Amino acid sequence: MGTLGLFDKGWATMSGSVSQGAADVGSKLVSAEQSLTAIPPGSRIYLGTGCAAPSHLLATLEAMRPGPPDLEFVSFVTTLAVPEEAGVPRTRYRHRTFFVGSDLRGLAASGQLDYVPISLEDVPELLASGKLPIDVALLQVSPPDRRGFVSLGVSVDLAPAVLRVARRVIAEVNPAMPRTHGESFVHLDRFDAFVSVDTPVTEYRHPQANESAERVARYIASIIDDGSTLQIGLGRVPNEALRHLKDRRDLGIHSDVITDAVVDLVEAGVVTNRRKTRYCDRIVASYCLGTRRLYDFVDDNPRLAFLPIDQVCDPQEVAGNARMVSITQAFAVDLTGQVCVDQFGGEFYGGISTQAGFIRGAARSHGGKPIICLASTTDDGTSRIKPLLETGDGVGIARSDVHYVVTEYGIAYLFGKSIRERALALIDVAHPNCREELLAAAKRLGYVRPEQYLASQAAYPVHEERTVRLKNGATVLIRPARASDAGALQAQFHRLTPDEVYTRFFRRARSLSYAELQTLCNVNHETEVAFLAVTAPRESEVVVGSACYFLNSTTNLAEIAFMVAPEWQGQGLGTALQARLQEYAIGRGVRGFVAEMLPRNARMLRLATHAPGTVSTSRDEESVHGDRPVPEPGAGRGGEHASHTTLKRPRTGPKTGIKALPPGATNVAVGSEAEVGPLERHVRSTPERWGNRPAQLVDS
Ligand SMILES: CC(C)(COP(=O)(O)OP(=O)(O)OC[C@H]1O[C@@H](n2cnc3c(N)ncnc32)[C@H](O)[C@@H]1OP(=O)(O)O)[C@@H](O)C(=O)NCCC(=O)NCCS
Repeated sequence: MGTLGLFDKGWATMSGSVSQGAADVGSKLVSAEQSLTAIPPGSRIYLGTGCAAPSHLLATLEAMRPGPPDLEFVSFVTTLAVPEEAGVPRTRYRHRTFFVGSDLRGLAASGQLDYVPISLEDVPELLASGKLPIDVALLQVSPPDRRGFVSLGVSVDLAPAVLRVARRVIAEVNPAMPRTHGESFVHLDRFDAFVSVDTPVTEYRHPQANESAERVARYIASIIDDGSTLQIGLGRVPNEALRHLKDRRDLGIHSDVITDAVVDLVEAGVVTNRRKTRYCDRIVASYCLGTRRLYDFVDDNPRLAFLPIDQVCDPQEVAGNARMVSITQAFAVDLTGQVCVDQFGGEFYGGISTQAGFIRGAARSHGGKPIICLASTTDDGTSRIKPLLETGDGVGIARSDVHYVVTEYGIAYLFGKSIRERALALIDVAHPNCREELLAAAKRLGYVRPEQYLASQAAYPVHEERTVRLKNGATVLIRPARASDAGALQAQFHRLTPDEVYTRFFRRARSLSYAELQTLCNVNHETEVAFLAVTAPRESEVVVGSACYFLNSTTNLAEIAFMVAPEWQGQGLGTALQARLQEYAIGRGVRGFVAEMLPRNARMLRLATHAPGTVSTSRDEESVHGDRPVPEPGAGRGGEHASHTTLKRPRTGPKTGIKALPPGATNVAVGSEAEVGPLERHVRSTPERWGNRPAQLVDS
């Protein structure tokens, strides 16, 4: 399937053992053949899930000659449920499944596969209502304890619901099956027959994450806060994300499935479950897929509660966990946010599973985050972010339920956003090779304005994000601007006083046009650079400051401009933004900064003179110009390699009043010194190049 290989085969049977007491199942212990001969023709048979699939019973059924005809198997996710001949699945029976895993998908062509799209939390009701009668349940369980209770082991999930309705229950009793705690215990009375097996429990290893999956995982990890409770769906990306959480504290787990990656986090002291608001101190799961290491971890471990699936993924129960993070891997998403999780390119693969409940629950959880993740392209480079879903792509998650969408190119936040905002945000995280085409399609569909452009095809430079602490102790994120930031910048503009608007844009503007807003955020990150200072979590970001520069390729001087929200001024934010621009410019060999400012703009003048290096100024009747080179390494404020500031007539233009100075326009003093003040005394020559000194952020 695709780059991330969501459900690639990772099954293997490995040896290992869990020491349990010998099964004391008395007269119910029969051979596999004996247990199965009583199955009437045409029966519907439930198969235990995942690594607790009753493989021996299944193999026996398939081998029986003649076996009972017209059986239909019902399962959620199975392992090696269908015998293979030369890599092709061959079975005499039909499979009705709630999830098309790698072992079953090969059956689709033969017409023996019936996929049922349903949220797993609804399956118990489907069974209880009699709409899907179950004649026989085939399970795999642990040996009984001294009170006669077996454990459902690694797969509780649908079994309690099945056990309430199945007419006949047959179980493989396997000493290698862990005894899990929670609602996992079932008394011997409920079983009609036991078949003794002593084989290692099937193991599952997630295929190795490739580079793109690894990058998606890093982004996911970047928005998981200390104290979060996690649900990790099947798929290698969510599991890879867990590997990037080693520096987090007090995470909790409330998940349909758990894997080996959870054991790593428990052993590293990261998962403590201490801050969970439901089942505090305990990991909640419904089944587990992994290696013997995981099975040993869950065996007789009261720190885990294995609960029925409808309980674990009930949205209300999920929402009861504060800071609930749910991670779902998807096949594709369209520009409006519709998500494919069970049908892609005409093929049914995967399923609705538990995602609807977890996504809705996480959305309602206090501080919760529902996350959809996917690689931006398939292996052959086709975009998984599509203008429209195509024939053969199914919507598994409605656009109204989608919050975060994460690819290897960043994080888009969609909830509460318009179609235009969603389209732009998703194009931002699409593969750079696909962005232009997506934008053209979005224009054709009327999703975005006809004049919308993309200044940069490159990936969002996430590594350029910095966190700084200001004088008032507040922390802000200074991050590169994106095309989709126009709305947030407009909000920032409207917070400025009329006078600040004038000092920034050199005109009495009441609003900025969309085109002007785009020049402030839709930048190419090379000759046009813009950073925003934002507060609040990513999903409710508020822009409190912005800074940009536009490089004059002739002079190699960059013209800078700043805008800080009134209530954030005087806290060092302007200084931090300037330092950030400086650090960025140093890396690109920019020779110096030029700023245009009104002579009476005392703050901006101070800001301009504040950076390392001195400032040379010139002025005319209306404005001050300042040119500022970045100092050589080691040079401090007022050092030899000073910046020069050119004070110049205010102008408006395509860059919202910011224009590159013509070569040679620097260091020209015009007008009275009294008006310009002492700045003119700081005239210095411009050094040929800036030093390599990193910007001095307030704190980073
Ligand atoms: C100019 C502006 C970006 C400065 O942002 P800021 O976050 O307030 O800047 P800082 O807090 O880092 O302070 C910068 C300098 O101004 C000084 N300053 C702060 N308040 C001041 C005031 N009321 N008067 C004079 N200087 C002041 C600071 O002390 C600091 O100088 P120092 O480092 O020598 O002490 C901000 O005031 C603004 O957005 N103004 C409106 C738009 C504008 O004029 N933009 C500039 C055109 S490009």
